[in-house]
Amino acid sequence: MKAIVHEGQPGFSGLKFAEIPSPAVKPGTVKVRLKTAGLNHRDLFTLVRHKADAGPLVIGSDGAGIVEEIGEGVSGFQKGDEVVIIPSLGWRKKSAAPPEGFEILGLPDDGTFAEEIVVPAENLAPKPHHLSWEQAGVVMLGALTAYRALVTRAHVAAGQTVLIPGVGGGVATLLIQMAKALGAKVIVTSRSSDKREKALALGADRAIDSNGDWQEALPGEKVDVVIESVGAATFEKSLSLLKPGGIIVVFGASAGDVVPLNLRNFFYGQYTLIGSTMGSIEEAHECLRFMEEHRIAPVIDSVFPLREAEAALRKLERGEQFGKIALKIAD
Ligand SMILES: NC(=O)c1ccc[n+]([C@@H]2O[C@H](COP(=O)([O-])OP(=O)(O)OC[C@H]3O[C@@H](n4cnc5c(N)ncnc54)[C@H](OP(=O)(O)O)[C@@H]3O)[C@@H](O)[C@H]2O)c1
Repeated sequence: MKAIVHEGQPGFSGLKFAEIPSPAVKPGTVKVRLKTAGLNHRDLFTLVRHKADAGPLVIGSDGAGIVEEIGEGVSGFQKGDEVVIIPSLGWRKKSAAPPEGFEILGLPDDGTFAEEIVVPAENLAPKPHHLSWEQAGVVMLGALTAYRALVTRAHVAAGQTVLIPGVGGGVATLLIQMAKALGAKVIVTSRSSDKREKALALGADRAIDSNGDWQEALPGEKVDVVIESVGAATFEKSLSLLKPGGIIVVFGASAGDVVPLNLRNFFYGQYTLIGSTMGSIEEAHECLRFMEEHRIAPVIDSVFPLREAEAALRKLERGEQFGKIALKIAD
């Protein structure tokens, strides 16, 4: 089968479009013939984190396709079923933190940028009817991350105001849609005026420049919840917009992991800082039901053929996208 494989040199130089053996089905697993896959910022980190001596790795965490073969002991699926892959390996139930052994598909296990994949049966969900193949292929990692951050961790409720810095990201666009579906007022930031316009069209109530003065852009405005994934470039500004007693959830740090924190302001503000990582299989099913109920579909920025995955990843690296970048693998 054809696949995008990383091996040897860290970064893009170790990436190739290659012919590799089709994976074998084992007990408890299912083989899926992938139609589409989706890019995540994690794929860029994987190119650096995947060790030079670790052997070839098929990258990619998101995908959707058709069940091809079913392993011994698997029930509930049939050949021909249309499915979405849930990339949380080993995290079954909603819990305070992932259990020991939790991994995300695409490192160390082979991922979705391939014509076929074998995954545990528990990591499959029926493809939501309201999503196209491109939408289904890009949705799960970002939607699950957004859902756990907003619903499980921050308990966002109708009438609250939610701030989402760095709105161009794949998770951030899903956050807008989910926060609006929960009845919240949504304020976003972006470095790009074009992305700010697109965010307003998607339902955001206000959109401001990430690099500008936020207090000036939002006079007198404070928010109940911030969902942070930009990191060092925006964290302090995010904290400065929180209402006393507000919550800041962090699930990413695209622009740097280390931030200064004024502890006195923090404790006087009675703030809560919460970390969040993707989510469990239980939350993935909840999330898909929530998206079906509210007819939420991910924004597709662009679609590249599988063999052009490198060009797609370079676009993600440049931060040019608004929403998700998809790979088309088969018709
Ligand atoms: N913990 C988890 O389970 C989990 C899951 C998914 C993602 N993540 C993390 O969350 C982050 C977002 O993921 P994603 O896939 O949505 O990424 P993405 O599509 O690459 O988006 C990142 C966004 O961050 C903003 N940004 C980046 N650098 C910035 C800077 N210097 N100043 C201001 N804004 C900046 C940009 O927004 P604008 O272009 O609009 O300015 C960009 O579109 C990544 O760090 C990722 O690793 C974590």
